[in-house]
Amino acid sequence: MPDDPRPIGVFDSGVGGLSVLRALQARLPNEHFIYIADQAHVPYGPRPLAEVRAFAEGITRYLLSQQAKAVVVACNTASAAALHYLRQTFPQTPFIGMEPAVKPAAEHTRTGVVGVLATPATFQGALYASVVERFAQGTRLLEDTCDGLVQQIEAGHLQHPTTRAILDRALQPMLAQGMDTVVLGCTHYPFVIPLIEEIVGPQVRVIDPAPAIARQTERVLKMQNTRRTTTTPGVTRYYTTAPDPRQTAEVMRRLLGHPVTVERLAWHDGRLAPP
Ligand code: DGL
Repeated sequence: MPDDPRPIGVFDSGVGGLSVLRALQARLPNEHFIYIADQAHVPYGPRPLAEVRAFAEGITRYLLSQQAKAVVVACNTASAAALHYLRQTFPQTPFIGMEPAVKPAAEHTRTGVVGVLATPATFQGALYASVVERFAQGTRLLEDTCDGLVQQIEAGHLQHPTTRAILDRALQPMLAQGMDTVVLGCTHYPFVIPLIEEIVGPQVRVIDPAPAIARQTERVLKMQNTRRTTTTPGVTRYYTTAPDPRQTAEVMRRLLGHPVTVERLAWHDGRLAPP
């Protein structure tokens, strides 16, 4: 097999996509990654789909300028807004996207009641409508947008009383209606799994799709014959579009459990470039 050292691009509106990146790094330790947190525009969730699509296109163009061999859209909202469009616009590039894990949830639930936590844009998108139609027949889906939760996680407030209050308000009514499975339909939310588990208890299964996305990425690379075969560990470069990369690095350190160096990128007329 030839060695393909080109990096894999990964992006999100902010630090949420790190929940996917860490699964990718664990599954594909020899690959190089470029992670972009578009914190100039976080949160994506309340924005019109067309606006998020334009951000996703700008980020993809930057990743391709860095020779990305595949792009993981580590954001449910950007996947809802742009996955289809990106595949059409960049037909040579494989894209791996997120969709709320309604299928495994519907297979697993015994009570037939499943909670889905995702952003308003994700719930509005055609991708969600399609997974619901295909996989959730006979399952009751209880949806909540957890307003403010993305911002709490962006601030690194994983155990904060406000974070708990947002989750309590979303999850308690779901529990009262017999929910036994909860789908994390936003890549920020795996960082509050400990808090979610405290609230819902051991009887409720919490589904984090990140490991499945990492397996899918591995399959895609194998199929395209673009694995990096060299056995030295891969390197990840981290970028933010926020003005202060040191602040981003501090939150990323808290979420990942190890220090990282973060560089800045800036938006100019819909394009990303070093400032
Ligand atoms: N992490 C994102 C998602 O998976 C976006 C959250 C946001 O920016 O609103 O949907």
